[in-house]
Amino acid sequence: MSALEEITNSNSAASATAQQKSIEKANRQVNPMVDFPDFLKYDQNGCELDLYCRRKADMDSKTLKWAFKLAEKNVGPQYKACSLGWQPKVKQSDLNKAWARYLVALDRKTKKPAGYTMFRFDLDYGRSVLYCYEMQVDSEYQRKGLGAFMMQALEAMVRHYGMERLVLTVLKNNEDGMRFYRKLGYDVDETSPDKSDNEAYEIMSKSML
Ligand SMILES: CC(C)(COP(=O)(O)OP(=O)(O)OC[C@H]1O[C@@H](n2cnc3c(N)ncnc32)[C@H](O)[C@@H]1OP(=O)(O)O)[C@@H](O)C(=O)NCCC(=O)NCCS
Repeated sequence: MSALEEITNSNSAASATAQQKSIEKANRQVNPMVDFPDFLKYDQNGCELDLYCRRKADMDSKTLKWAFKLAEKNVGPQYKACSLGWQPKVKQSDLNKAWARYLVALDRKTKKPAGYTMFRFDLDYGRSVLYCYEMQVDSEYQRKGLGAFMMQALEAMVRHYGMERLVLTVLKNNEDGMRFYRKLGYDVDETSPDKSDNEAYEIMSKSML
């Protein structure tokens, strides 16, 4: 091995270790939002919301049921309209994964939940990422900036824990969802399936480096 190859290999090994460490650090936190009090309130465009971030194990079953129902109402029709179809058991199981973390917005007055995102910290194709699996805002609270606010909260965590990227999946037929993510600076990720694969979804991401 040449000296240059040795340096390159040791640099990439160091980088892989650093990425692993940043994920481990984030995963050690019971509440990874603890250092971001500014993201625990959303008082704009007529909203009066409090936010909390919890691991699936600390979520109450009523809120988990609401999360499923909201996903069914919001994106069930798009799933039905594409090759994936709406598979309630799969969605229930995904939302109840032991590794899942939730950021939930609650109406301060009514105590009614308004929206949530479900995510995890993970190594994705060798990259340290926050993977956002679900982003759902109740129709009553849509277009009031809440979705963008929750995405900013996730991005703040990616930066804080020194991770590379925020990655997410969106159905190609979800045009509003696509517009939302593009507006926030997300683009098709290098790991997204090729056009020729004709998959119903796209993987999008944004670098935080
Ligand atoms: C997509 C979604 C998460 C956006 O959340 P939101 O709180 O309504 O969005 P915001 O108010 O933060 O919007 C931020 C920007 O995104 C874009 N945007 C959001 N919703 C849009 C829509 N329906 N059509 C076009 N652009 C949209 C706009 O540019 C908007 O800025 P503007 O209102 O100043 O024009 C929400 O509408 C939702 O839950 N939809 C159903 C579920 C879904 O599609 N989830 C995402 C994919 S899984």
